[in-house]
Amino acid sequence: MTKTDATTHPEDTSAPALEVHGVRKTFEAEIAPVRALRGVDLTISRGTFVALMGPSGCGKSTLLNLIAGLEEADEGTIQVAGESMTGGTEDDHALIRRRHIGIVFQFFNLLEGMTVLENVALPAIIAGRSRKAAETRARDLLDLLGIADKASVMPGVLSGGQRQRLAISRALANEPTLLLADEPTGALDSAGGSEVIELLNRLHAAGQTIILVTHDADVAAAADTVLAMRDGRIVTDSDAAMGSGGPATTIGSL
Ligand SMILES: Nc1ncnc2c1ncn2[C@@H]1O[C@H](COP(=O)(O)OP(=O)(O)O)[C@@H](O)[C@H]1O
Ligand SMILES: [Mg+2]
Repeated sequence: MTKTDATTHPEDTSAPALEVHGVRKTFEAEIAPVRALRGVDLTISRGTFVALMGPSGCGKSTLLNLIAGLEEADEGTIQVAGESMTGGTEDDHALIRRRHIGIVFQFFNLLEGMTVLENVALPAIIAGRSRKAAETRARDLLDLLGIADKASVMPGVLSGGQRQRLAISRALANEPTLLLADEPTGALDSAGGSEVIELLNRLHAAGQTIILVTHDADVAAAADTVLAMRDGRIVTDSDAAMGSGGPATTIGSL
């Protein structure tokens, strides 16, 4: 089966949502280089909901940024839906990002001067859909998210939980293969956090592949699988016990 997106690019739906092999990333810093990722291997099959946990500074956001093609790996390969996010130009990465990735951050990144509907419709318009088609899809998303009655207001009047649900619906505008969420509940009170998790659960039930970074074990419990990250590597329970780098991590049935 192939899915066709706004730019009528046929997608190889037999490829896993994500394949990461041997990825390393070092940042130059004033005192000493920071080895943010020290060899990450990870395969995530479609439809899986993965939570990534680990202490501050262990490399979680760096990994998401590399998967999204917002930063370049020093070594290793990253494939999203079978398309390479490593080795190409920034334009190549932007195209793959538009086709396959939706991202949500802790602090919403909403466009405050646009209505709720326009916020959600914009990514699809940028991707080449007509305004009418984009707004129709945006209304469906807002409906799904339970904020359809807020379509014509500015984001500033929404609650924290509503703002994050809006950010998630915007991230879904182009039907991404992979939804990346970097501490999406980190700035919310517990009611707002629950609204966001309930939404992620519903999206997962509808087949959305999700990688959720969180500090909160209660939040991570919503996922199928919880991965632990330490010092730039993904560790399994047995690795933690043995103190060694372990085998490649494969999530979901391939
Ligand atoms: N642009 C950057 N320049 C220099 N160091 C960075 C940069 N981005 C991240 N780092 C460093 O890389 C390490 C991993 O950061 P990050 O991926 O943000 O961790 P996490 O999201 O797990 O808290 C940290 O030591 C951080 O200070
Ligand atoms: Mg982070």
